[in-house]
Amino acid sequence: MIKLSDLRSRPRISWNWFVIGLSMVMAPGRFKNWWLRRTGANIHHTAWISPDVLLDPVFPELLIIEENVFIGWGASIFTHMIDKKGGEFVTIKGEVWLQKGCFIGGKSTVKPALKVGRDSKVGSHSLVTRDVLPGTIVVGIPAKEIPNGEYRE
Ligand SMILES: CC(C)(COP(=O)(O)OP(=O)(O)OC[C@H]1O[C@@H](n2cnc3c(N)ncnc32)[C@H](O)[C@@H]1OP(=O)(O)O)[C@@H](O)C(=O)NCCC(=O)NCCS
Repeated sequence: MIKLSDLRSRPRISWNWFVIGLSMVMAPGRFKNWWLRRTGANIHHTAWISPDVLLDPVFPELLIIEENVFIGWGASIFTHMIDKKGGEFVTIKGEVWLQKGCFIGGKSTVKPALKVGRDSKVGSHSLVTRDVLPGTIVVGIPAKEIPNGEYRE
């Protein structure tokens, strides 16, 4: 069985979980972003993080949320994931970079080690499994691009 301490020290995870858990019932704003930065997450003060948004409590420092990013109600952003391969537990982890002005729809999930490009949109209830190009709109499970992006670089 996997042990919590195989991932990270128990006090560190507990602290992160406390901060992030409390943030889930806070209104969006500068104070909330400051509070979340206590975990080491890199969050711009202008980002909008709705209630019930779950940020990864194990490796929050791998999270970059730039200015004017919007994260809708109930979305989850993961910088690590536990998987089981050939009977063994493996941990996948990597930086998640939400670039300027991107919009993450409510109840969406963003997997580890990817970039959501500038001014892109992720539809509600989507599962983001790969990089989202700047200015595009992606929807669904897994999230795929649909036409009508506002611009494309
Ligand atoms: C993704 C989104 C931005 C697209 O809006 P739009 O550009 O006006 O696109 P449309 O509504 O015309 O939909 C275009 C196509 O994508 C599909 N689609 C739209 N949103 C979808 C979603 N979330 N998941 C799956 N498919 C979706 C539509 O069914 C339509 O498919 P069709 O062409 O086969 O009929 C919007 O639907 C959305 O999900 N916004 C997020 C809202 C949100 O979560 N706000 C935060 C709340 S706190």
